[in-house]
Amino acid sequence: MKKKLRIGILFGGRSGEHEVSLLSAASVLKAIDKKKYEVVPIAITKQGHWLRDDHATALLTTTPETLSLAASADIEVAAAPAALGVDVIFPVLHGTFGEDGTIQGLFELADIAYVGSGVLGSAAGMDKAIMKQLFHAAGLPQTPYIALTRTQWRTDAKRCTKTIEQALQYPIFVKPANLGSSVGISKVHNRAELAPAMDLAASFDRRLVIEQGVGGPGVKPRELEVAVLGNETPEASVVGEIVPDREFYDYDSKYSATSTSDPVIPAALTAAESKQIRAMAIAAFQACDCAGLARVDFLMEPKTRGKKAAIYLNEINTMPGFTSISMYPKLWGATGVNYKTLIDRLIQLAIERHKEKQQTQFTKQ
Ligand SMILES: Nc1ncnc2c1ncn2[C@@H]1O[C@H](COP(=O)(O)OP(=O)(O)O)[C@@H](O)[C@H]1O
Ligand SMILES: [Mg+2]
Repeated sequence: MKKKLRIGILFGGRSGEHEVSLLSAASVLKAIDKKKYEVVPIAITKQGHWLRDDHATALLTTTPETLSLAASADIEVAAAPAALGVDVIFPVLHGTFGEDGTIQGLFELADIAYVGSGVLGSAAGMDKAIMKQLFHAAGLPQTPYIALTRTQWRTDAKRCTKTIEQALQYPIFVKPANLGSSVGISKVHNRAELAPAMDLAASFDRRLVIEQGVGGPGVKPRELEVAVLGNETPEASVVGEIVPDREFYDYDSKYSATSTSDPVIPAALTAAESKQIRAMAIAAFQACDCAGLARVDFLMEPKTRGKKAAIYLNEINTMPGFTSISMYPKLWGATGVNYKTLIDRLIQLAIERHKEKQQTQFTKQ
């Protein structure tokens, strides 16, 4: 009998999206084909300890605070990926230290195949300022924006305010360049709201991105999302739409139990709009050198008198929410790829990418 592939499912992590990762991982662990794969659960606690097997799955049902960490279960981090003897790692990790290229660097050093984007794609997809530059270079439409450092803001707020108001019109969105789940993001309606928003974003990152609000005063943009799958020849799913139940798609609207922000799949669009958005999603994926999977998010300005509908790229997520009912798997479900098959495809893509990379010569000889 052929030896089963050993798949390390890595989850938890030190980011603010630890809990989201546990939910995604629980779904993957439930759905993955155990006849085909030998599954090795690996958890990273909020404090950064690595646990495996039963100690790891305990994290799915126990809070990190109540979990007593058996010393023997704590794997030496740097040696961990190699010591686990897995063939492929599926990092079901969102946000800082999971989706930003750092852990991908560890897999590269250990020479292990892994699901998703590499170091560069992950880092670019996590950083809204860099991502925007790559989108711009690829000719992709975006709402007007500027990037500032928190040092600039803290040393001369007056000058920054002037720069912002010269370039953009209220309402504007202020964001930390790195992060996710809308943490640290504010919608700013006027000058009085600007400073608190900048201070908040500055507490989360060194660099800040300030964008013109799509939709304009009192008008919400449509929020459209596309799932992309593949390596060198990525494919795009049908387009889905989120209808946030608040003024914008903030943290509560994303995760609160009382939120009624439901996805509409497929989104009501013309065939031409949908075609354009899917092509833009693939271009965005390639602009950031992504691999495996990514969810690409758009903001659409509704048609108003005298102005036609405008579609802007908002952001790319290299490890989007991955529970069986998350947008990414749902979009593929609606495109004819079920959850179990999706996991298979991602593992296959990880192996293909690792093989492709082995063709690279690292020295002259
Ligand atoms: N320029 C903008 N115009 C209108 N709404 C925006 C804009 N930027 C962000 N938003 C709103 O804020 C939400 C979160 O912003 P986003 O850039 O996607 O951050 P995150 O990476 O945290 O998801 C969006 O889904 C949207 O509801
Ligand atoms: Mg977003």
